[in-house]
Amino acid sequence: MTKASLISIGAYAPKDILTNYDLEKIVDTSDEWITKRTGIKERRIAKDEFTSDLGYRAALQALERSGLDKSDIDAVICATITPDYFCMPSTACVIANKLGLKDVTAFDISAACTGFIYLLELAKSMIESGAKRNILIIGAEKTSAIMDWSDRSICVLFGDGAGAAVVSARDNNPILDVHTSSDGSKGELLITPGCAIVNPANKDTIENRLNFMKMSGNDVFKIAVNTLTKDVVNILEKNQIPSDNIDLFIPHQANLRIIEAVKQRLNFSDSQCVVTVQKYGNTSSASIPMAMNDAYESSRLKNGSLVLLDAFGGGFTWGSALLYFGGK
Ligand code: UT7
Repeated sequence: MTKASLISIGAYAPKDILTNYDLEKIVDTSDEWITKRTGIKERRIAKDEFTSDLGYRAALQALERSGLDKSDIDAVICATITPDYFCMPSTACVIANKLGLKDVTAFDISAACTGFIYLLELAKSMIESGAKRNILIIGAEKTSAIMDWSDRSICVLFGDGAGAAVVSARDNNPILDVHTSSDGSKGELLITPGCAIVNPANKDTIENRLNFMKMSGNDVFKIAVNTLTKDVVNILEKNQIPSDNIDLFIPHQANLRIIEAVKQRLNFSDSQCVVTVQKYGNTSSASIPMAMNDAYESSRLKNGSLVLLDAFGGGFTWGSALLYFGGK
């Protein structure tokens, strides 16, 4: 059977930095609280760029690093909860057009912070089935656009950014396994209630601030730690890989305390664990590829590295992936 390999990684972080000290001037919070409860020190904000602009830049870098020609790409899939447009066109179509790609499959998926893991499962399946050979997957978010800057319980947590990867048919360094799951009964704990069909965009929706993301942080925290721990244990056991064989554990970057809890339960060392939440905050579907890119650019992620990914997010959705990095 044809195998799928992640052959390149790229990322883009907008240049404007919003520090915890800047946030102290906007809401009743402190650098001390944010650092202690989340590990976050700063995040990036896209002022004059849209989600597709962030995704385009990350995708261009991943494409260049893949060594492939634009014409080799046969699908573009973007995971985002902050698409450029409501319903259509998809952000993937916008990015494909910005890249100058012609005649490619392009669509978006919505799996919140687990988006990149869902993308990996899709790309792996499409390649293994023989349907496609080279797929550009992108996690891109302008979370600042759905942030209530008067709600301190959430606005300190998120940031903007994008990460992208090329997944290709290859004999070496395969994506070994991907597991994804969901529990729709908990959807209301992390939700953007408007402006879609249930609460259409109108004066009341806007006045009640339903166009912004809401989270029951403490409930999400507890469920995330337990679910992620189980999910990571399961994928390692299923593939008979002991945790010390993992070169890099690259978790979704929502909160340093969640990362530390899973890391400790799995007995991962600091050198195995990639942490970027302090500089980007939670960038939802972009956080894993941005962290992976960080590890790549600092020479921690190398050709053949055995990598474990995990994520948890709105829906609820969660998932994990095991792969050998196939990039140069
Ligand atoms: O990526 C998708 C998945 N998302 C996550 O995984 C996020 C999960 N949740 C979390 O990371 C944490 O629950 C938070 C960081 C959101 C909150 O931390 P917490 O330790 O769960 O705090 P809390 O919500 O229980 O609030 C504790 C206190 C409250 O005050 P009282 O009631 O104890 O007086 C809050 O009002 O902290 C207060 N608080 C703040 N204080 C200063 C809440 N937000 C802030 C803030 N600055 N920004």
